[in-house]
Amino acid sequence: MRKTSVYIETIGCQMNVADTERAASRLRIAGYELVGDSESADVVLFNTCSVRARAEQKVFNRIGEVRKSSRHGKQIVGVTGCVAQLEGGAIFDHAPGVSLVVGTRATDRLPKIIERIRRGERRILDLGERDEDEVWDISPAERHSPHVAFVPIIEGCNKFCTYCIVPYSRGRERSRGASEITSEVQRLLRSGFKEVHLIGQNVNSYRPKTETGLEGFDGATPFSRLLRAVAATGIPRIKFTTSFPRDFHHDIVAAIDEHENLCDWVHLPVQSGSDHILHLMRRGHKASNYMHRVEAIKNARRKISMTTDIVVGFPGETEKDFEATIELVKQCQYDSIFIFKYSERKGTPAAALSGKISDSEKTARFQALNEVQRGIQNEIYASYLGKTVSVLVEAISTRSTEDMTGHTTCNKVVNFGEGADLMGQIVHVKVTAAKQHSLYGALV
Ligand code: 5AD
Ligand code: SF4
Repeated sequence: MRKTSVYIETIGCQMNVADTERAASRLRIAGYELVGDSESADVVLFNTCSVRARAEQKVFNRIGEVRKSSRHGKQIVGVTGCVAQLEGGAIFDHAPGVSLVVGTRATDRLPKIIERIRRGERRILDLGERDEDEVWDISPAERHSPHVAFVPIIEGCNKFCTYCIVPYSRGRERSRGASEITSEVQRLLRSGFKEVHLIGQNVNSYRPKTETGLEGFDGATPFSRLLRAVAATGIPRIKFTTSFPRDFHHDIVAAIDEHENLCDWVHLPVQSGSDHILHLMRRGHKASNYMHRVEAIKNARRKISMTTDIVVGFPGETEKDFEATIELVKQCQYDSIFIFKYSERKGTPAAALSGKISDSEKTARFQALNEVQRGIQNEIYASYLGKTVSVLVEAISTRSTEDMTGHTTCNKVVNFGEGADLMGQIVHVKVTAAKQHSLYGALV
């Protein structure tokens, strides 16, 4: 008998990518076939993001598109992830073609849920918690890359920054056991993976229930001990994201200093350079505390590249507050920044604040900050000219089929000619040209 085919479309962050991989693993074990396009699939699932209004809207546009397809009426359509968790049953009213809504912690039950729909149940809603004995077991075939793997170490968020929906969509922080994490990394190493990204909304708030797996690894916090434990597996490259500034202990820098395979890149979202706005955002840090952390990073033995997230147009953000952000960005000399226009999220404390900023003003601030960063970034990227960098060869470039593409240890994209036979290997590339977001070079 033909297997039932499932297509999963992922919107949003790396955690969603990892959740999709996990769901795909479960579905394949249960006998489903995973396919790469919505048109041919019997089941279409949207794994969704709600961090900003635009991402949330996207899923409803995509559901509309799928309904227009020739197979409309014969396909099962489902919504999983953050929008599912937050909107719940309201999705059925909004998008009547949807028959299953499955929250962020219920994805392991997808095979059973789909089975029930196939047997005739019309609508199923599951926003429940994970089962106690669930294991985070992703088969290599479902990974987004055969060379780079995302390894979730902590889920959820306890920080409740006033603009952010994540604590509501993903619930409280739950850390995975350290030995489970290091075993997964060892398995990845044996299957040929070269790089792991330890992921979580706040990786450095990692706090497992027990010490199991951390014994014998020094460190000032469970996270820095975990970094040392993962480094000891011998996997060539370890990156981790996202770090929360208040929990960014300088011991993380010490661990990077000690272990070559802990990569020279830190993503440390500052959100704003103004203490007044940071206070309204309830970030738990001031610009000065943040700068102390940056200083520790800058004083590392290896040069560590730094990236950040910034929200512009938070309620009450004055010209002066915005200038403080510009100043901080100039001081930090980030290798790259992600700028977001503040997007009001229903149910968050910031939605009730006065002093809303118009969309045109948000756009103007976005562009002004982008311009400042462009100058900084051009200089940083140009400083790589003539230097040799280590690159993990990950894929054929999307721009030119003759070029290969990969990342440096400091997480910069590098494209270079030749080398299709070097896929999955770590090579040395001499940089011959610098663009704003990537480097170009030749194999040495
Ligand atoms: N509006 C705009 N940006 C947001 N982010 C989180 N919530 C919002 C929001 N309501 C940004 C933050 C965070 C990143 C993942 O998304 O900068 O670090
Ligand atoms: Fe959102 Fe703040 Fe938690 Fe990050 S730390 S997920 S911005 S609430």
